[in-house]
Amino acid sequence: MDTILKITDGIYYVGVNDRDTHLFENMWPLPKGVTYNSYIIKDEKNVLIDTVKISKVNAFIEKIYDILDGGKLDYLVINHMEPDHSGAIETIMHEFPEMKIVGNKKTFEFLKALYDIEDNLYEIKDGDEIDLGKHKLKFFLTPMVHWPETMMTYEITDKIIFTGDAFGGFGSLDGGVFDDEVDIEYYENEIRRYYSNIVGKFGPMVQRAMKKVGGLDIEIVAPTHGPVWRSNPGRILELYDKWSKYETEEGVVIVYGTMYGNTEKMADYIARCLADEGIKNIRVMNSSNTHESYIINEIWRFKGVILGTNTYNNDIFPPMEKVIINLAHKGIKNRVFGVFGTYGWSGGGVKGIVEYINKNKWEMVADPVEVQFSAKEESYEKLRELAKAMAKRIKEN
Ligand SMILES: [Fe+2]
Ligand SMILES: [Fe+2]
Repeated sequence: MDTILKITDGIYYVGVNDRDTHLFENMWPLPKGVTYNSYIIKDEKNVLIDTVKISKVNAFIEKIYDILDGGKLDYLVINHMEPDHSGAIETIMHEFPEMKIVGNKKTFEFLKALYDIEDNLYEIKDGDEIDLGKHKLKFFLTPMVHWPETMMTYEITDKIIFTGDAFGGFGSLDGGVFDDEVDIEYYENEIRRYYSNIVGKFGPMVQRAMKKVGGLDIEIVAPTHGPVWRSNPGRILELYDKWSKYETEEGVVIVYGTMYGNTEKMADYIARCLADEGIKNIRVMNSSNTHESYIINEIWRFKGVILGTNTYNNDIFPPMEKVIINLAHKGIKNRVFGVFGTYGWSGGGVKGIVEYINKNKWEMVADPVEVQFSAKEESYEKLRELAKAMAKRIKEN
C-alpha cells in the first residue's frame, strides 16, 4: 500500500493517529483524537526520531518497514521520554537489536527507570552532532519543555527541527499532515490548548529553549503531535514565543459556577456591560459543563479573567474551584481579575476565590461583588462598575 509520506528527500513521516484515547494524560479531553508523530531519515545510517504510544505500535512498525524497504535502523533518537513517545521503544529494540539509542544523561536515567533499558546507548551532550551521510543531526538540550530530559534535534542539510512536544497540539491528522494541507485555525487553537495545559507552566524554560534554537535556519518544524510546519514555520515559532511570554489579547473570560442560574445571570450582566464598554472578545463559560482545559486555553489568550461562584458548603462551588486550582497550577501571569458571586446564608464562595487570588498574587481590578441569593438593583450597579474597571484596565495594555 502506497502510504509513504515524504517530507524531504530521505526524510519521512511515520506518525500515527490515535482516535481511541478519550483523555490525553488521562486528564485532557481529545474530542478529535491526537497524533504521535515520528520520523525516519534514510541515509548511509538510518535514523528513527521518537516512537509512539504502545497502543499504536502495530501501525507504527508497519510504516517503518514500508519505508526502510529491507534496510535496518542504526539509531533511535529520543527527544522525550513521556510514554506517548517512548512506549514503543522496547518493541523497536527487539525489531532492530543492533540499533543505538541516542539521548542525553537524563534520557537514559528515565529509560532505565521506566523500561529497565541500559544497553546500546549513545549519549550526546548539548551541541553534539551525528553524521548520517548526506544528513547531519545536531542536538540541543531543552530541559523542562516540559520534562527535564526534553531535547530538540536539528537536521542541518534540510533545515528541519524535530522539537518533541514543543509546537505540538491535539487533533488527529485526517489526511493532511502539513500546515498547508489542513484547517490550520483549528489546529492553532488545539496547539494553544495543549500548550496552556501541558507546557504552559514552564514558560521561562520554553523561552530559554527558543533562544537556543532561535538562531538556526529553520525551514520545517516537526513536532511530536499535530501538523508539520513546512509552509509557515515562522507562524508557530511566533505563537509559541507569545504564549510563553504570557502575552495577551484584549478580551475577558468570565467563568462561573451556578446551581439555579442566579450566579449565571450576574455573569451575563457583566458580559453585557463589557460589550457596552467596547470589549469584543468576551467568553462566558460554565465551569460545570466545560472542561477546564478549554477555559484555561481561553484565559491563555485574553488579559481579563472574571471568576464567579455560588456558595457551596460554605466554600467555592467545587466545579469552579477545580478551574481555579488548575489555573494556579499553571502559574498564570500578566492577567487581571474580577470576582463576583452569591451566598444563601453564611457565605464563603467569594471569600474562597479571593483567598486564591491573594495567594497567587494575582491583580484584582475592583472589589468583589457578592449578593445574597440573587442580584438586586444596587448590586447590578456594582457589577457594572466591576465591568467598567475591567474594561479600563485591559485597554491600558
Ligand atoms: Fe510530553
Ligand atoms: Fe507528547
